[in-house]
Amino acid sequence: MKRIMSTIIMLVILLGLTACNSNIQQNDEKESLNNNSAASTSTSENETDKKGDNDISNILVVYFSATGNTRPLAEYAADILGADIYEIVPEQPYTEDDLAYYTGGRADQEQNDSSARPAISGSVENIDQYDTVLLGYPIWHGEAPRIISTFLESYDFSGKTILPFCTSHSSGIGSSADNLHSLAPKANWMDGERFAAGTSKEEIEKWLNENDMKPNEIAVSSKVGKFDFKKRTVMLNSGYEMPIMGLGTYSLSDDECYNSVTALLNSGGRLIDTAYMYGNEAAVGRAIRDSDVPREEIFVITKIYPGDQFANPEKAIQDALDKLDIDYIDMMLLHHPGENDVKAYKAMEKAVSDGKIHSIGLSNWYVEELEEFLPQVNITPALVQNEIHPYYQENDVIPYIQNLGIVVQGWYPFGGRGHTSELLGDSVISEIANAHGVTSAQVILRWNLQKSVVVIPGSSNPEHIKENLDIFGFDLTDDEMNRINALNRDEKHDWY
Ligand SMILES: Cc1cc2nc3c(=O)[nH]c(=O)nc-3n(C[C@H](O)[C@H](O)[C@H](O)COP(=O)(O)O)c2cc1C
Repeated sequence: MKRIMSTIIMLVILLGLTACNSNIQQNDEKESLNNNSAASTSTSENETDKKGDNDISNILVVYFSATGNTRPLAEYAADILGADIYEIVPEQPYTEDDLAYYTGGRADQEQNDSSARPAISGSVENIDQYDTVLLGYPIWHGEAPRIISTFLESYDFSGKTILPFCTSHSSGIGSSADNLHSLAPKANWMDGERFAAGTSKEEIEKWLNENDMKPNEIAVSSKVGKFDFKKRTVMLNSGYEMPIMGLGTYSLSDDECYNSVTALLNSGGRLIDTAYMYGNEAAVGRAIRDSDVPREEIFVITKIYPGDQFANPEKAIQDALDKLDIDYIDMMLLHHPGENDVKAYKAMEKAVSDGKIHSIGLSNWYVEELEEFLPQVNITPALVQNEIHPYYQENDVIPYIQNLGIVVQGWYPFGGRGHTSELLGDSVISEIANAHGVTSAQVILRWNLQKSVVVIPGSSNPEHIKENLDIFGFDLTDDEMNRINALNRDEKHDWY
């Protein structure tokens, strides 16, 4: 039905024109029992150690080990789970004197002072990508060393699962783990386990199994669609990373488009959305070629249109490649459903295997259309781009698409022509904007990102383009998200 309507209206629009051993092991290096080079699996920069290129883990093993007992157990766990591993390295390494307990030395003092927060050298890269964190530490005076507190207070563990483990001379894990809960109150804390120094890999494996910690087999697929707020990208099911905010170029003339893309690239934006129907692919390509930004940092989406283009998709794809003239297309979408859409999609699949296009997807496809379309094609779309704004939230459609491992992108984030002032002036959005000292536009864009929806606001104003990228300095609270969610009116502002 929707298809028929779309086709009729299309014809009309075409006319006008989108993470114990009390005998402290005598370390030869008296000065520094714990330093950056100590961890065999942490990088020299003490950043999270990563697996191979395509091996993206959703489990992080984090550990602190002053005398080397906890370290191998952490390494066993990471190895068994295929997880990333991060060693907490103190900015000021603990010397043997520091660790001599009941001497009133540094470690004793820190443990006697609940507010002590020894500084950590380095940080976890991309904490957002992990949903499970194994946290290993030695028992110091019955508790976790204070540096564990520093660690927990350095990141947001909301919704993440934390499984603590410790090594000790004889103490159990006792309340050491429970006492950490208040430092990451929104995490799901599991019951921890104490191990003796020298515990075998088999015992660690048994413990992991008992806690239902499985090897990281589905890590890549569970990572797909998760926003990395540090890198400001999302991993597509095609294996490519796409920036999560960019520029829409609908209705921009050649000059406007060239200047807007240039402004975007100069402001650090790297995602550009165009289409055959916008008539400005050549201007997008020219601005990219004229910029100093390396091609591989830029992500260009274009679309082919129903009608002649769907009927002759190979030609349509070649035309887009020629007009853009940027070696390859990062993402090509079908503009909206129409006759020959499966044929056009299959041509895009062929172009993917030929290396002309990296990822493919759909625009203006909803649940019904997807149910009919997906069984007919081989490559699952990497992206679906639909109209999404606070007055038209697609609350049934977005989770449906995301559950398929497909990233959702929204067009018309500010409501579209004729509706922008109403939406940007909306009292709820304005109030939230004032509370954060940002603009309504920034609140709407951030709301999208927190719902894992990629944003491509259109603008020809360099100041607005810059402002639209500046949405990582604040967080909307759950309450604020809910207030915006409550603005939904299921009010569509365009016909697609
Ligand atoms: C300052 C300090 C305090 C300690 N307190 C305890 C304790 O209360 N109970 C215990 O069984 N072991 C205690 N230990 C021993 C360590 O927990 C044990 O050697 C642990 O395995 C060391 O781990 P690591 O080599 O990874 O640092 C303490 C060690 C230090 C340095």
